[in-house]
Amino acid sequence: MATAAQDVAALLSAEKMAQLEAQAADLSPGQLLWASGYLAGVAAAASPEVSAETPAIPLPQDDAAASLTVLFASETGNARRVAEQLADSARARGAAVKVEDIARYKPRQLKRESRVALVAATHGLGDPPDGTESFFEYWLGDSAPKLDNLEFSVLALGDSSYEDFCQVGRDIDARLEALGATRIGDRVDCDLDFETDAGTWSEALVAWLEPAPQAARAAVPLIRAVPSGYSRSAPFPAEVLTNQKITARESGKDVRHFELSLEDSGLSYLPGDSLGVIPENPSQLVKELLQQTGYAADTVVKVGGEETPLADALGRKLEITVASGAFVKAFAAVSDFELPVNGADLRAWLSRRQVIDIVAGRHLPADPQAFVDCLRGLTPRLYSIASSPDANPDEVHLTVRRVDYEAHGRRHWGAASNYLAARGTVPVFVEENDRFRLPADPDAAIVMIGPGTGVAPFRAFIEHRAWHGAPGRNWLVFGDRNQHADFLYQQEWLRYREQGVLDRLDVAFSRDQAEKIYVQDRLVEQGRELYDWLESGAHVYVCGDAEGMAPAVHAALAEVIQTHRAVNADEAGQYLRELKDAGRYQRDVY
Ligand SMILES: Cc1cc2nc3c(=O)[nH]c(=O)nc-3n(C[C@H](O)[C@H](O)[C@H](O)COP(=O)(O)OP(=O)(O)OC[C@H]3O[C@@H](n4cnc5c(N)ncnc54)[C@H](O)[C@@H]3O)c2cc1C
Ligand SMILES: Cc1cc2nc3c(=O)[nH]c(=O)nc-3n(C[C@H](O)[C@H](O)[C@H](O)COP(=O)(O)O)c2cc1C
Repeated sequence: MATAAQDVAALLSAEKMAQLEAQAADLSPGQLLWASGYLAGVAAAASPEVSAETPAIPLPQDDAAASLTVLFASETGNARRVAEQLADSARARGAAVKVEDIARYKPRQLKRESRVALVAATHGLGDPPDGTESFFEYWLGDSAPKLDNLEFSVLALGDSSYEDFCQVGRDIDARLEALGATRIGDRVDCDLDFETDAGTWSEALVAWLEPAPQAARAAVPLIRAVPSGYSRSAPFPAEVLTNQKITARESGKDVRHFELSLEDSGLSYLPGDSLGVIPENPSQLVKELLQQTGYAADTVVKVGGEETPLADALGRKLEITVASGAFVKAFAAVSDFELPVNGADLRAWLSRRQVIDIVAGRHLPADPQAFVDCLRGLTPRLYSIASSPDANPDEVHLTVRRVDYEAHGRRHWGAASNYLAARGTVPVFVEENDRFRLPADPDAAIVMIGPGTGVAPFRAFIEHRAWHGAPGRNWLVFGDRNQHADFLYQQEWLRYREQGVLDRLDVAFSRDQAEKIYVQDRLVEQGRELYDWLESGAHVYVCGDAEGMAPAVHAALAEVIQTHRAVNADEAGQYLRELKDAGRYQRDVY
């Protein structure tokens, strides 16, 4: 077999090779990755018959410098994205890398790995992402075996406004060490603006992998570093075609149906995916915050290494409509602010406060940079897609509740929901979600539980199934406050029912009668029929509120199974676990 060095010699003179090696020696792993993509692009442009994806000089398997398994536990895609980026960087350095979704990974398989990078998000209230529970239960449980031969590093993703910040990453990190595994890099805990910290962790890990031998270094496969289309880092400016309020005037909520154009974007999506929106903060809030702090709008500050006027930083780069745990802690260190609560109460305390509520009346640092350094980066918001791509080519629909509430004597606007409502064009990207998909079998029945804006993906599901004439039965359970004011898409559901597309429609309007009735009550009420649907192979989907609704619906499903299968609580729990493992119980909750 020809060696990489021989292959190189056949293509490059000794002089050219020496030049290339000298250039490469000075570059960091990240720069090498970028350079490989750049060279691929140059090669493709100069010689179209050479695909940029084809390594000009294949890297012999034996020369692979290191092997790494990247595991990720993700619910809304962030951990997956970090894992994939890490894998790309490590591969560019010559490592043999595999990436595995923990939701589909056999827990015991970890015993056979030698080097693992684990990216774990925390959801619920300190819980693992949906579908990954078995892995964490097994490895955090008492019967987990020793892992003396494993080297590992953990990246934890979370939100510092939760008491159990990055709990899943913290627990698994401590547990792997306790089981005898060796840490190859310290755990890094990331807040919602995780990109920088995740990038630093990934770079350190890639640098730690054994450097590839000199000859092999020149043979790094040329991979396409140029994005193929629009993405989170290069969003598409989508025109807002429709912005329609779909709650009545008397409703306490302002829910909008949006239709956005994806024409000429090349973006595609499937029912179950979300649309990411990159917002700007309400300009009125920026103005008030500048007034409140007394800082000059045109003071130049640094955000993420870039210099920009303070007004621009507050408008487009920093999170000010929500106050995070990290913000209040950092702010307390540079001002006379004292945190009045801690632990479990912090999230509730933060939930109705914006940055301006916290800085009001405080002695701020004289240097605006010290204040800016307390704030975290503005993060995109996700919205469940409410349309079928086949029924609406070049369009994407959303169902969005506009965040606008009074608290602490001020009016509070949410960033993205108001940005969408006010703009003609918004930057967007598609966030794929393979863990929330219609059954592949068009004959399979589906039960969709989606109160409030949780109904959004089910509009996409039904529209898609209707468009494709899927014969499987469809059951929608919807709920909100009042039927006359909050019945989102009422006409559409009634039409689908008349057409026989929707086989069952159950509604729960909590405030239409003296006692409160919620979707979970309807499930229990219709338990016999629901259980029959489950037994005949139905898939169950839940979308919407994560804190109150999703656990209540889970408990109701367990109760239905317990009653109608005549089993105990443990067995009902096991039944639901098996449904989840079979991909027949999927959730998209927030
Ligand atoms: C996977 C996923 C799918 C989603 N799908 C949808 C969807 O289909 N439709 C949808 O509307 N949203 C959806 N969301 C939520 C959405 O991403 C945003 O979080 C939401 O629109 C608020 O964003 P914002 O920027 O307008 O508000 P922000 O600026 O983020 O402010 C929101 C904050 O304001 C506070 N707040 C909000 N409302 C009130 C209130 N009434 N009283 C007191 N405090 C309040 C809370 O602290 C909240 O965290 C989804 C989220 C995820 C993760
Ligand atoms: C419904 C919900 C619950 C969450 N609960 C927690 C939590 O208890 N602790 C925490 O640190 N982060 C929590 N988060 C924040 C996520 O960990 C954070 O958004 C992370 O970047 C998500 O990664 P993923 O996209 O890979 O799932 C929660 C997020 C959501 C949407």
